[in-house]
Amino acid sequence: MDPKPSLLLVLCLLTDITANKYDEFTYNGFKRGELYLDGIAEITPNGLLRLTNTTKNQQGHAFHRVPLHLKNTSDGNAYSFSTCFVFAILTEYPDVSGHGLALVLSPTLGLPGALPKEYLGLFNSTNNGNSSNHVLAIELDTILNMDVGDIDNNHVGIDVNGIRSINAAPASYFIDKYGKFKNLSLISGEHMQVWVDYSNTEKKLNVTISPISVPKPSHPLLSSFIDLSSVILDATFIGFSSATGSILTSHYVLGWSFKMNGQAAALNPSKLPSLPFKKHRRKLISLIIWPALGVVVFITITAFSIAYIIRRKARYPEVVEEWELEHRTHRFSYKELFKATKGFREEYLLGVGGFGRVYKGELPTSKTEIAVKRISHDSKQGMREFVGEIVSNSQLRHRNVVQLLGYSRRKGELLVVYEFMSNGSLDKFLYDTSKPTTLSWSQRRNIIRGVASGLLYLHEEREQIVVHRDIKASNVLLDGEMTGKLGDFGLSRLYDHGGDLQNTHVVGTFGYIAPELTKTGRPTTSTDVFAFGVFILEVVCGRRPILQQESPDLHLVDWVWRSWRSGGIVEVADARLEGDYDPEEVKLILKIGLVCSHPSPAARPTTRQVMQLLDGDLSLPEIPKDGRGEEPKES
Ligand SMILES: *[C@@H]1O[C@H](CO)[C@@H](O)[C@H](O)[C@H]1NC(C)=O
Ligand SMILES: *[C@@H]1O[C@H](CO)[C@@H](O)[C@H](O)[C@H]1NC(C)=O
Ligand SMILES: *[C@@H]1O[C@H](CO)[C@@H](O)[C@H](O)[C@H]1NC(C)=O
Ligand SMILES: *[C@@H]1O[C@H](CO)[C@@H](O)[C@H](O)[C@H]1NC(C)=O
Ligand SMILES: *[C@@H]1O[C@H](CO)[C@@H](O)[C@H](O)[C@H]1NC(C)=O
Ligand SMILES: *[C@@H]1O[C@H](CO)[C@@H](O)[C@H](O)[C@H]1NC(C)=O
Repeated sequence: MDPKPSLLLVLCLLTDITANKYDEFTYNGFKRGELYLDGIAEITPNGLLRLTNTTKNQQGHAFHRVPLHLKNTSDGNAYSFSTCFVFAILTEYPDVSGHGLALVLSPTLGLPGALPKEYLGLFNSTNNGNSSNHVLAIELDTILNMDVGDIDNNHVGIDVNGIRSINAAPASYFIDKYGKFKNLSLISGEHMQVWVDYSNTEKKLNVTISPISVPKPSHPLLSSFIDLSSVILDATFIGFSSATGSILTSHYVLGWSFKMNGQAAALNPSKLPSLPFKKHRRKLISLIIWPALGVVVFITITAFSIAYIIRRKARYPEVVEEWELEHRTHRFSYKELFKATKGFREEYLLGVGGFGRVYKGELPTSKTEIAVKRISHDSKQGMREFVGEIVSNSQLRHRNVVQLLGYSRRKGELLVVYEFMSNGSLDKFLYDTSKPTTLSWSQRRNIIRGVASGLLYLHEEREQIVVHRDIKASNVLLDGEMTGKLGDFGLSRLYDHGGDLQNTHVVGTFGYIAPELTKTGRPTTSTDVFAFGVFILEVVCGRRPILQQESPDLHLVDWVWRSWRSGGIVEVADARLEGDYDPEEVKLILKIGLVCSHPSPAARPTTRQVMQLLDGDLSLPEIPKDGRGEEPKES
């Protein structure tokens, strides 16, 4: 036989095979080597596709190895296709996570040059938005990033050639019975299924999502008119991309199917591999042994838990004294807080502060989110007075003061309950370099103003003056809207009462302590104003009050003062702001910070004057130079 026709025949057969075989695929779980992987993506021994493990600031890609020929070669039209996949996101904390994952169509196997974090491993700052990318992505985005136009921290979006979605909606699915959408949380750790359908006659791309227990909803979450012919290239790879930031998060895909010009095969939930820590080895244990074993295990666990609970109860009885009965409305039972924080589980730990560990919780009955601070405390002395103070502080109500809800007591332990602040403490935003974005100038300005207004409330708008005693960035908490609220007031009292009088230590934090406080030991509204001044400088400069070695000044205040003296006050502003602010405004606020943190109490404004200065209702007084060397040159 002439070799040429046979070669032709082989080629025909090959194209035939690629056209038939590879235009459709189904993975109920994955095998090693089946997919192209890069970054930190891997297939686990039990068949999960894990796009990211718990390594920070990483990305992972997984692609079907064979390119799809998604376009009709004679008229260049993109074909219809449909695909569905099941995913789950497991995160270290219950309410924050990595950046999410995306289904992606790309002309390359893998996405070389792409960045993690907010770019989701899809793009980088140079190619973002460039139509020569030929990339379509369906993002399941779990972090709110204003810079790329995100709508919230839990949304589904359609991305064409760039990370800014052309269409996006909060993650939710349509329930026919009610005729409306129900929200779902992408990071709940539950299995969820996503369908992506493209029709080349309608030129419509639909994206639908639902929990795995719910069949495909009748209405898609997103439906966009888009002609993919102008986006993708003829040979296109399909796969997944995912990225983490500073929170330890694993993104998993459990199964995936695809079909061109037809409906992708349904995935078989019973064939999907199981996620770690949900070890149901149902197949291995016969159906008869299982229930019996279950009963035995149940009885054993129950017996052990009862014994454990009894022992715990006996060892740590809840302490309620007679005088506390008058505070009944503010007293939580230990059991209630134990349940709210799922037993003070490690994954509910929000942070460890100067006074103890802080946990996130949800009150079982009202579903209110709370933060619980556990303070170990042995001193009986002063407890009555201290609890009285907590209770009276629970009556404080202000937009810029973290709401204190109540307390609970056990032997050797005090638990203080606050409203939950979803964005955590301000110092993280100022100093944690692994946060993808820094605070903008307007956010910083609003936080400063908010804290001033909270402080004014504590100092002047109540019958009794409340001195905060420990104003600093880590005691300013941010809610979901980035409103700054003062937290932790009064807690330092606990040490006052407890400490022996010979050796009463100065209340506050090094760097924020007014000079006279070290002499008198008596906190006043004016020592609070001093600390607030340092706080202002801290927020504007993005530096801690005690500077590192590199500067001749030890204190931030001295450094700012010296920069003013040498005519360059605006230059101290945080470099990460990249000059995106009104220099006059920055200058004014820095000067307010300097006058507040003046070493002489007489030179400091009152809290009300601070508020008026910030609002521009009062002009800045001359700042006396005493104790500070030369007069500043006006810049
Ligand atoms: C995550 O994956 C990378 C690459 O496979 C590996 O080097 C790293 O040790 C893994 N980290 C964890 C916590 O498993
Ligand atoms: C490709 O396009 C041509 C011309 O429009 C059309 O006749 C043909 O049916 C198309 N092929 C497929 C597989 O849709
Ligand atoms: C961005 O990605 C492209 C490939 O898509 C690559 O050529 C380029 O070098 C990358 N740019 C940067 C700054 O990494
Ligand atoms: C888009 O990318 C192409 C190829 O990398 C490049 O030549 C072009 O300048 C880019 N366009 C823009 C607007 O950046
Ligand atoms: C669903 O989530 C969106 C965005 O987070 C929110 O605006 C909306 O109120 C939520 N709807 C319900 C019913 O909770
Ligand atoms: C997309 O959703 C719309 C609205 O439900 C529907 O009319 C259309 O047929 C769907 N298209 C595809 C390709 O699923």
